[in-house]
Amino acid sequence: MTTFQAPKGTYDLLPPDSATFLAVREALAAPLKNSGYGYVETPGFENVDLFARGVGESTDIVTKEMYAFETKGGDRLALRPEGTASVLRAALQANLQNEGNLPVKLWYSGSYYRYERPQKGRYRHFSQIGAEAIGAEDPVLDAELIILADQAYRSLGLRDFRILLNSLGDKECRPVYRAALQEFLRALDLDEDTRRRIEINPLRVLDDKRESVQKQLTGAPLLGDYLCDACKAYHEQVRELLAEAGVDYEDDPRLVRGLDYYTRTTFEFVHDGLGSQSAVGGGGRYDGLSEMIGGPSLPSVGWALGVDRTVLALEAEGVKLELPPATSVFAVPMGEQARRVLFGTVTALRRAGIAADFAFGGRGLKGAMKMANRSGARYAVIAGERDLDEGVVQLKNLESGEQSAVEVDAVVDRIARELGR
Ligand code: HAM
Repeated sequence: MTTFQAPKGTYDLLPPDSATFLAVREALAAPLKNSGYGYVETPGFENVDLFARGVGESTDIVTKEMYAFETKGGDRLALRPEGTASVLRAALQANLQNEGNLPVKLWYSGSYYRYERPQKGRYRHFSQIGAEAIGAEDPVLDAELIILADQAYRSLGLRDFRILLNSLGDKECRPVYRAALQEFLRALDLDEDTRRRIEINPLRVLDDKRESVQKQLTGAPLLGDYLCDACKAYHEQVRELLAEAGVDYEDDPRLVRGLDYYTRTTFEFVHDGLGSQSAVGGGGRYDGLSEMIGGPSLPSVGWALGVDRTVLALEAEGVKLELPPATSVFAVPMGEQARRVLFGTVTALRRAGIAADFAFGGRGLKGAMKMANRSGARYAVIAGERDLDEGVVQLKNLESGEQSAVEVDAVVDRIARELGR
């Protein structure tokens, strides 16, 4: 029989690496929890039209990368390729915007699916921490989100990342720019596919990675030169707020994102140690998305940070997270009676909130002590028949090697005291 492998473009998370992954996820979310964002969770799949309309009919994400399928009941669904459309859908469905408390600030953590060509840092199943601030047009909100992402990365010890910032304009000025860009692009020497893209989504052509295309793009009109006064003033405020907060950013007039819903502020966090898949996070304002999916006008802004790539960025910088050991006390019983007694001790420790584990499987002293050391525990509780006859267990400090006999009934209190509980 063949053994099964994880599907192409996916990988499993197992100890000890999974502990780092979990810690990264928690660190990325921590600043949000501290800033008025409430947790939101939505289904892993949605009506396929939500993404087609929200993310954009002509984006790669929708045309090439979506896991879309029809259910037995005839519903057309898709595994979520991103979180923003789903979160906004959920907020609209619950009428959160009518509760008078705008913006609604939400954060999320979850798995996303894109049928991309797999390579290092690009997977078909990946993990994001995201934030969405729904229903307010306020440059302070855009700045808040960028500052919080910066804080999240820094709290992990990351340093070699840059923030790229741009404004994509609004429904007043972008169409004028779009027309000017189309005129410029139509005059270039481009393949059929790209020509088609000019008509559907000309801004994406600016993002073409091929050198032959990039060479021709020098001199392309820049959106920054077409921004209306309102967009310009808004963007200026975001820039000033970031500068006042001491957050460095680079203006990138060519930054276009792979999703169609963006307006005004857009940004990307790129890490210089990651090669081609360098974006560790990205986001921006999406003032028109609510209307695109059938809701009222709700100007909003948000971001998503890639957990997988953040872990890779930490590796690239050689940052090792200091994770507290999962276990504080490890029990090592010698013989059947000791197994009973120490399992009781472990249960009592756990009920007292102390992380404890046990040498299962009736191993010998040597093997069991090896497990105790490997667990990272501060203490081992060891007992054999002779100890129990005397009503004691041995409490060993695994760091100092010191060992002393403690009465069975007193051991939980003693350990709690030693651990400062
Ligand atoms: P995105 O730029 O498509 O934006 O994804 C955000 C981050 O998710 C990327 O910067 C990257 O770190 C990670 N990511 C994306 N695709 C993959 C992949 N195939 N493998 C590994 N990591 C990946 C969004 O998803 C928007 N919803 C962000 C947003 C929220 N905009 C407004 N609100």
